Amino acid sequence: MFIVGLQGSPRVNGNTNYLLERLLDAARQKGAHAQKIDVTRLDISPCTGCGNCERKGYCIIKDDDMASTVYPLLRRADVVVLASPVYFYNVPAVLKALIDRSQALWSRKYKHGLDDPMRGHRKGFMLAVGATKGKNLFDGMVLTAKYFFDAIGAQYVDMLGYRRVEEIGEMKKQPGVSEDVAGLIDMAAPLFHRKKILFACRENACRSQMSSAFAASMAGERIEALYAGSTPASEINPVMADVMAEAGIDMAYRTPRSIQEVIDEVTPDMIITMGCGDQCPFIPGVTYEDWDLPDPAGRDIDFMRKIRDEIRERVTRLVG
Ligand SMILES: Cc1cc2nc3c(=O)[nH]c(=O)nc-3n(C[C@H](O)[C@H](O)[C@H](O)COP(=O)(O)O)c2cc1C
Repeated sequence: MFIVGLQGSPRVNGNTNYLLERLLDAARQKGAHAQKIDVTRLDISPCTGCGNCERKGYCIIKDDDMASTVYPLLRRADVVVLASPVYFYNVPAVLKALIDRSQALWSRKYKHGLDDPMRGHRKGFMLAVGATKGKNLFDGMVLTAKYFFDAIGAQYVDMLGYRRVEEIGEMKKQPGVSEDVAGLIDMAAPLFHRKKILFACRENACRSQMSSAFAASMAGERIEALYAGSTPASEINPVMADVMAEAGIDMAYRTPRSIQEVIDEVTPDMIITMGCGDQCPFIPGVTYEDWDLPDPAGRDIDFMRKIRDEIRERVTRLVG
């Protein structure tokens, strides 16, 4: 299970950071792979409202950390945590810039009719701290968070909000935080108990991408569909993304990963190889299966469609 925490406070080692670290620690103790992103240390340009994503499905801003880091992580995460201090009843500006830029993912879903394959099981949590004690303190943030989670293909589950937390260090003095974060993590409990299947090919640009996306889309609540390649390409194959879009599945912003990188994070229960041959490491106790599928890279679109359909059939049998 992969959990990404978006730390939205500009204050170094502040209250939000403390709370998020406690939650990520609780997730790690349950066996998750967790990654924290300090959003205010990233270079994220604000949305310009140009409409490119609505017309073409991609954000026109391609040279900042949103494109290189944030979209790919949001696409890969099983759980996304939005952690923030209250700033004027909402989130700080840099975190809001990230949220606004998720309009590109919203557009792919609602303007282009494409479904993120992990949408069915991805969960969203919110963590919030504020100095005052008003009843409505978190209302603005919760509305923003719900809309953000829908845009990125996640179901908003719940939030933890702490009032009267102002100076650095005050969060540490709050009673019951360990129990609170453990309770929140428990709401994602089924995701910790899924069968982990690694789909591995050579470049992780076509076959293993398609297989893992179909597996996540058909059975993401039961299967953790991992993907990797023995010599990963720098980006996924655009023809593969086109034929998956024909099937309604959105592959945008997914990036190839190396087998080593994946198995350093998680030990799969099963590895399905399709062309990575001897370069796929042997892990004792793991079940292996080989799918004899030709590499569609460099072939025409009809061939890519044929491989997509063959993969869909194999994955349907596998998850059945
Ligand atoms: C610019 C700014 C705006 C703030 N707005 C609010 C607010 O609207 N309501 C509130 O209760 N606290 C507000 N606060 C206080 C912070 O939410 C509070 O100090 C919090 O503990 C900071 O968390 P951090 O240490 O993670 O940055 C604001 C703080 C700043 C710097």
